[in-house]
Amino acid sequence: MAASPSPDVGQCLVAAVARLPADDGRHVAELLLGHALQRDRAWLFAHARDLVPADIQAEFDALLRRRIAGEPIAYLLGKRGFWTLDLQVTPATLIPRADTERLVELALERLPADQNVRVADLGTGSGAIALAIASERPLAEVIATDASTDALDVARLNAAANDLTRVHFRLGSWWEALAGERFDLVASNPPYIAEGDPHLQQGDLRHEPASALSSGVDGLDDIRAIIASAPRHLHGDGWLLLEHGHQQGAAVRQLLHAVGFVEVATEQDLEHRDRVTLGCWPG
Ligand SMILES: C[S@@+](CC[C@H](N)C(=O)[O-])C[C@H]1O[C@@H](n2cnc3c(N)ncnc32)[C@H](O)[C@@H]1O
Repeated sequence: MAASPSPDVGQCLVAAVARLPADDGRHVAELLLGHALQRDRAWLFAHARDLVPADIQAEFDALLRRRIAGEPIAYLLGKRGFWTLDLQVTPATLIPRADTERLVELALERLPADQNVRVADLGTGSGAIALAIASERPLAEVIATDASTDALDVARLNAAANDLTRVHFRLGSWWEALAGERFDLVASNPPYIAEGDPHLQQGDLRHEPASALSSGVDGLDDIRAIIASAPRHLHGDGWLLLEHGHQQGAAVRQLLHAVGFVEVATEQDLEHRDRVTLGCWPG
């Protein structure tokens, strides 16, 4: 009996769309086949009638199975775009979110481009915040910390891949990694989901590191720890910017006021939800 002919690119995509969750559709099929072939979307379009070799079909099938089982697309591709950067991500790192770009924007508004400012990013994960700031402020010295050695390894690779040599990495729990140091601006997207929150069992969150997501019964344990010692690590007129859940703005403002921050305010994300609270340390 003659072997069945290899499917072409277009046929592979049609078959994949039928297997993938309805929300994924052709876009995800193209991303995964493009990844297996190491080609972009335009190439897939232009080569729709090219036959797909058996080894690529097998690789594509494995990616589809993992996606159907719920694995995040960013982990399957091993990368995610953030700000202007293409960042490597692994299951040791949170997948950077577009919401966090709001935190970067607010930080940049407070960082003059012509001064040698010192910036810290607490809980850097893939390096997203630190590297985005460093890419926009070449004179800034940026220190990125994390309690996870595996996450820091990824962040270091991302710094090297983007030629961001003024970013330095420190291992340790929150301020322990920065003993005796002061900064002009500290930004953090710490874990802030309440333990037991049902969202932790849904979507991408099921696959991301628990240590990057949840923080005590109300989700605020890490934010409390960061705010409590922030005054010892900020220069006068230095800024602390914290990303948080959309129902935590009032609580974070109250925590900042309680230790003496001024100009405390909560800013919203693109969907008009509270997302970042910031304050200035009067010194
Ligand atoms: C929500 S993720 C944010 C990652 C990255 N900044 C981003 O926005 O994509 C929180 C990060 O904090 C780190 N983390 C958790 N507990 C920590 C601690 N006690 N000290 C330092 N980093 C911690 C996690 O490993 C994780 O990388």
